[in-house]
Amino acid sequence: MSSQIDHLLNETRRFAPSAEFAANAVGDASLYERAAADREGFWADQARELHWHTPFTTVLDWSNPPFAEWFADGELNVAYNCLDRHVEAGNGDRIALRWEGEPGDRRDVTYAELTDEVKRLSNVLIDLGIERGDRVAIYLPMIPEAIASMLAVARIGAVHSVVFGGFSADSLRSRIDDAGAKLVITADGGWRKGKVSPLKPAVDQALADRNGSGIQETVEHVLVVRRGKNDVEWTDDRDIWWHDVVPQASGEHEAEAFPAENPLFILYTSGTTGKPKGILHTSGGYLTQAAFTNRVVHDVHPETDVYWCTADIGWITGHTYVAYGPLANGATQLLFEGTPDTPHPGRWWELIQNHGVTVFYTAPTAIRSFMKIGRDVPQSFDLSSLRLLGSVGEPINPEAWIWYRDIIGADRAPIVDTWWQTETGAIMISALPGVTETKPGSAQVPLPGISIDVVDDAGAPVGHGNGGLLVITEPWPSMLRGIWGDPDRFVETYWQKFADKGYYFAGDGARLDDDGDVWLLGRVDDVMNVSGHRLSTAEIESALVGHEGVAEAAVVGASDETTGQAVVAFVIIKSRYMKKNGVDGLGDELRRWVGEQIGPIARPRDVYIVGELPKTRSGKIMRRLLRDVAEGREVGDTTTLADTAVMSVISAQVK
Ligand code: PRX
Repeated sequence: MSSQIDHLLNETRRFAPSAEFAANAVGDASLYERAAADREGFWADQARELHWHTPFTTVLDWSNPPFAEWFADGELNVAYNCLDRHVEAGNGDRIALRWEGEPGDRRDVTYAELTDEVKRLSNVLIDLGIERGDRVAIYLPMIPEAIASMLAVARIGAVHSVVFGGFSADSLRSRIDDAGAKLVITADGGWRKGKVSPLKPAVDQALADRNGSGIQETVEHVLVVRRGKNDVEWTDDRDIWWHDVVPQASGEHEAEAFPAENPLFILYTSGTTGKPKGILHTSGGYLTQAAFTNRVVHDVHPETDVYWCTADIGWITGHTYVAYGPLANGATQLLFEGTPDTPHPGRWWELIQNHGVTVFYTAPTAIRSFMKIGRDVPQSFDLSSLRLLGSVGEPINPEAWIWYRDIIGADRAPIVDTWWQTETGAIMISALPGVTETKPGSAQVPLPGISIDVVDDAGAPVGHGNGGLLVITEPWPSMLRGIWGDPDRFVETYWQKFADKGYYFAGDGARLDDDGDVWLLGRVDDVMNVSGHRLSTAEIESALVGHEGVAEAAVVGASDETTGQAVVAFVIIKSRYMKKNGVDGLGDELRRWVGEQIGPIARPRDVYIVGELPKTRSGKIMRRLLRDVAEGREVGDTTTLADTAVMSVISAQVK
C-alpha cells in the first residue's frame, strides 16, 4: 500500500472553481466560520430550514454518550418536509421525479402527485394495521413507488427497512426477522439487463421457509406493485396488489408530528462478523444533515437543477441522496431503473442528455468501468448540461478523477469526492464546490460543523503529513443512533477503541497531507469494498461453509482495477466430498452458491481450492498473507504462522 500512498501524495494538480460557479454556489466560506464559532448553533440554524410542528429548544444532548439526541424536544414529520410543504409553498407542479424505466417507459411525478400518492398509501398502511414504530420491509426496484413507500412509512411514524432488490431470499429473511417486520412492500419484478428480474418469488420463499423454523412469523401482509408483469404466486389472505388498494384509498391524510428522535429507518450493512448490523437512524437530525449536505455539497438549486444520484435505494446513498435530501430541498431529480449498460453502453450519458441533468453523483467503480469502455461512448452524447460531479463509496484514484473531470465534466465541472458511511447517515468529508480548490484523489476537508481527526492506535493525532485511523471527534446530527436490538455491539464496534477520548472509530485508514487534507486509504478491518458496496469477509465465509463440500473458507478483498476490491475465496474441500464428486466445476458451483445465499454482488471473483489455510498459533487466519497471494505479490512475513511452510504450498496450489 505504501507505493500507492506515495503515488497519491505526489498528486499536485489543483482545480479552483470558476468565478461564475463560486458566485452562484449555495455554500460559501462563511459556513466554516459560523460553524467554528458555534457548532451547535450552526446545526440549529440548519435544522430550522426544515418545518417543525413544534420548534426545538435543545440542540444536542450528549449526556449519555455514545447515545446522542439532537433537537429532542422538537417535533416534525419527515414526509411533510419532503412533500406537503413544497406543495403548500406553491411548488406542487414542480417535477419531483423524472423516472425512466429500463425498457424506456417514462413517468414524470410532480410534488403534488407524489404527495397525493403518499397520502393514499399512508391510509392503506394504517388500514393494514401499521402503527407508529412498526417496521416495514421494502424490497422494490427503482420505481417511483419505492420512494413513495419510504415516505409513507415515515409519514405515519413507522420504520422502514429497505432491502436491496439484488439480495437473496435468505438475506431478505434474516433482515425481516431481525427487525420483526410486519409488512413487506415488493413488486412482481423489475427490469434488469434486458429482462424482468423477479422479486415476489424471493419474498414468497423468505416467508415460506420460515414454516417449521421455530421463528415466529411477524409478517402479516405483502403489498405488491405490478411492474414486471411476470407471473407470481398468490397467498390470498396475505398478498395485496398495490393497484387494488392505493388508488382507491382516501387522498386525505394529515401528517402527524413526531419527536425528532422518532426512528426513521433501519438499514443493514456488513460489519466484521457474519451477521449484518441494522443501523438505526432517527428523524430530525438525519433530515437536517441530509438536506444541508445535499444543498451545499451538491449545490442544489431546486428551481433550475436536474439532479441525479445513481445509487439504488437499497443503499444509504439512495436513502440520503435519492429519497430524503433532494426531496427535503424540493429538487427535481432523475430516477432510473436498470443498469448503466442496458440497452446500450451509453445509457447513462443518454439519460443525462435527454433529461438535461446538471448535477451527477455516482461511484468510482462506475467511472472506472466507463473508462475501460472508452471515451467515445460518452463523447457521442451532449453532456453540456452537467455543471457539478460527485463521487462516493470508495477512494477515487487520481486517474479516474481526471477522466471524470475531462471527459464527463468538460474540464469545467467541479468534482466533489464525498466520504461518509451508512453509519454517518450523510456526507462528512468533502470539498464545497464553490469554495474548495479540489485535489484529485483526496476527499479533503470535513464539512462545516463536522469534527474529524486522524490518530494513531492510542488516539493521539498523527499531524499533517502522516497516516493513521480516521475518527470523528464530536457527535453530528445524522449519526447512527444504534444497532437495532444490540446496544452493546453499537458501543463495542464504534466507540470502544477510543473510549477514553469519546471518538467514533470509522474503520477507515486515512492520511493527512501537508495542507491537512484527508486522503482515504480503505478499510482497516475485515470489511471489503466491492464496487462501492460493503461486504464482510465473515459473511461470505459463513455462506461458503454452508455448502456441503466446504470444510473451511477464508475470504479476502483483493485490489481490482474496476471494482476497487474483488472477493477472493480460499476453500478447503471435505475429503469425502472430493472423493465422491471431484473438484471439476466446483469453483463455479461455489461462486453460484454464494450468489444465491447472499446476492450476486457477493459472488467471489476467484475461488481457490487449497489444502490448508495460514493460521497463527492461536488459530486466527492470516488474511494479510492470502491477500498477498490473491494480488500476485510476494508473500509477506510468515513468522507468526503455526506452520511456516503452509504459504508456499498455497502459492503453488493457486498457480
Ligand atoms: O471505506 C469507506 C468507503 O465506504 C465505507 C462506507 O460504506 P457504506 O456504509 O456502504 O457507505 C457507502 C456510501 C456512503 C467507508 O467506511 N467510502 C465511502 N466513501 C468514500 C469511501 N472511501 C474513500 N473515499 C470516499 N469518498
